[in-house]
Amino acid sequence: MAEGRTSTSATKSARRTAEIAEFADAVLHGLSKRPRSIPSRFLYDATGSALFEDITRVEAYYPTRTETALLDSYGDEIAALAGDVETLVEFGSGSSRKTSLLIEALAGLDTYIPIDVSESFLADAAKRLEAKHPGLNVKPHVGDFMRTRNLAGAPRGERLGFFSGSTIGNLTHEEAKAFLENAAEILGVGSTFLIGVDLKKSLDILLPAYDDEEGVTAAFSLNLLARINRELDGDFDTTGFAHTALYNDGKGRIEIYLQSLTDQDVRVMGRSFSFGKGERIHTENSHKYSVSEFQALAQSAGWQPVKAWTDPADLFSLHLLRLA
Ligand code: TRP
Repeated sequence: MAEGRTSTSATKSARRTAEIAEFADAVLHGLSKRPRSIPSRFLYDATGSALFEDITRVEAYYPTRTETALLDSYGDEIAALAGDVETLVEFGSGSSRKTSLLIEALAGLDTYIPIDVSESFLADAAKRLEAKHPGLNVKPHVGDFMRTRNLAGAPRGERLGFFSGSTIGNLTHEEAKAFLENAAEILGVGSTFLIGVDLKKSLDILLPAYDDEEGVTAAFSLNLLARINRELDGDFDTTGFAHTALYNDGKGRIEIYLQSLTDQDVRVMGRSFSFGKGERIHTENSHKYSVSEFQALAQSAGWQPVKAWTDPADLFSLHLLRLA
């Protein structure tokens, strides 16, 4: 996929075609293998991204508001410890609310570089943040942050990385280590990195966050099947599958599935797939860490823990790391 700052409509439509081909490959392969699984990045089409925004406002989903409150309370302390940050690099352009709190706290900041695969999402975020922070240079970088090696043309400056929403928990431990090593490459020696990480906690709090009563998370999850129907000529009966969230204690993670409610056959791109009642498709993991577990992971990737902040109920953590 082309990577860079902007693209013409020709490269945009080529990218769209490539995206659909990639989605088709992932779905046909993922439904054929056992256990069945579809990579979680495909949850986030336009509809999925809008539904995820709704999840962040659901009462049972504590991560977004808790992380926002931590940034609000400790932004100045984070900024003081990070030093004279000139460039803020965000991995995945997150909610502009959290980013704005950080930008406001960083007095000497002059450039903000969000990295995201979605060009339209980046353009929106850039517009909002430019309007909100006059004088700030916003230089969006289109690309997959797991694969981006450097920010060509971006100012060097003192860099702070930002990776919010416990998105790092959606990676396996091995992937998270590889991500942290890659981020070290992008940000460079002497830089700092602020990462939001969800904490291990009671299942009474954890499970409803991934299966809320209002059914917002279920709608987000089931949109994947609707997306297959829309883009890959599928005939999934979206009422024939249930969103399922469980906690895998051994692996310390929430696992998300779509589970067949009956014996049924489904067609996708002319191919038939049989589901027995109770059979499921794995779509996401959300790993939970204690503060010390995450610090050990960061250290294994070369990052030194500077400080970690948690809320009074120990729901969520913010970690500041430095690359020595
Ligand atoms: N980063 C979010 C998290 O792990 C993603 C997420 C929240 C999610 N709710 C979900 C992914 C439900 C799939 C299904 O908390």
